[in-house]
Amino acid sequence: MRLSVIGCGYVGLVTGACLAEAGHEVVCTDIDEERIAKLNAGGVPIYESHLDEILASARKAGRISYTSNAGDAIRAGDAIFICVGTPPKESGEADLSAIDHVARQIAAEARSPKLVIEKSTVPARTGLELSRALTAYSKNSNVKFRVASNPEFLREGTAVGDFFHPDRIVVGVEDPSAAAELREIYRPIIERSFRCPVHNGTCPPGHKAEFLVTTINSAELIKHASNSFLALKISYANVIADLCEKIGANVEEVTHAMGLDARIGGQFLKAGLGYGGFCFPKDVQAFIHLSASVGVDFDILKATERVNKQRIERFFDKIRQALWVVKGKRVAVLGLAFKANTDDIRFAPALEVVKRLLEEGAVIHATDPEAMTRTKALFPKVQYHEDPYEALRDADAALVCTEWDSFRKLDWDRAGKLMARKLVIDGRNLYTPQGMREMGFEYYSFGRE
Ligand code: UDX
Repeated sequence: MRLSVIGCGYVGLVTGACLAEAGHEVVCTDIDEERIAKLNAGGVPIYESHLDEILASARKAGRISYTSNAGDAIRAGDAIFICVGTPPKESGEADLSAIDHVARQIAAEARSPKLVIEKSTVPARTGLELSRALTAYSKNSNVKFRVASNPEFLREGTAVGDFFHPDRIVVGVEDPSAAAELREIYRPIIERSFRCPVHNGTCPPGHKAEFLVTTINSAELIKHASNSFLALKISYANVIADLCEKIGANVEEVTHAMGLDARIGGQFLKAGLGYGGFCFPKDVQAFIHLSASVGVDFDILKATERVNKQRIERFFDKIRQALWVVKGKRVAVLGLAFKANTDDIRFAPALEVVKRLLEEGAVIHATDPEAMTRTKALFPKVQYHEDPYEALRDADAALVCTEWDSFRKLDWDRAGKLMARKLVIDGRNLYTPQGMREMGFEYYSFGRE
């Protein structure tokens, strides 16, 4: 099919690339002309595993193109995916001005009927407003628009793999024809007939994606309800960790056993510094805001947020307990990204840790496999090291802030010889307390003795 993608950010580019790889003809557009120029020159503006190879193969096959002319992109596709940003306002409410702007463009530029699909994360009822806006902005009553919601559940770092192997594909529609069109768009993925970039061509046998057809309101709600529930699960595990510390239990033992109950599931129960990134903090806020706007008090989500914010304070309790005076101490910060396998530092707990350490007068030597370039612009006073052992040299303490595998595999015997004091405060529970103590380290983590 011929598809248009508006917005070449993280969601749009991955969506466009994967749909082209699945066999569709895709035209992408963005208001950022530099980004379009880079894409046209064969560059990839974001890092995402496998994205460069599928963009290159789609380009070679002539199935993907980029234009900064939104009108051309809008006219090219029978279906248009809206993938623009919906950042939080001061109040936590989602800012939908980019969606409104795109609605105006579509209404003005379309010359034939379009299926307009919202993929950006939006509060419930946005689809209905979008439908109204398209009709109101359109000057040509012969051009008909249908609206659908198709939320994405992609995780940063594994977005391409997630796109091709979803648990579910949710489409919220007003009429069966839109559902049929979306099923056709996703047919290669539902039938697993695509060439899988993650599995060298052919996926191992496994369960197929559920294709769920819902109302537009439900689809929008599914996205916020899913992300907020995962955030809630993390905060729950973090409170259990606090409880374990007081009672003398081990949070890993508790959450592991909890997770074996199929009704609970083992994922997103890792205690530590809490969640960050551009999705969870913003989606939880937007969901609280949406609920309040219709008179529903989503108290457990407010608690989720509060618990998450307190994680930094809990971490500092441990830092103060271990270091006593922070001022003048040399600390190695291991990890800046909001999670492993990404260079994204937006709302990263590590940055909050760095900010507070600087306020308290610590001397910071930081390392991260991917996120140092971005962090340098925000914190020029921090010293950065490609080599984690250089960050650890002469350190009074090592603070683990991101769950990178390379940190899991650090040689602590070697590190211990370089450090001024053998002290590790682990915000991600990467090591065993017993193992670290056997190597002669003073070791603090979350929810374990
Ligand atoms: C998330 C959702 O998983 C994805 O479906 C949605 O489309 C976008 O938001 P992402 O932001 O990429 O994806 O990150 P994710 O892997 O979900 O992790 C979120 C945060 O939670 C990270 O900061 C991570 O370190 C933290 N986390 C995760 C925990 O603290 N404990 C856990 O058990 C799991």
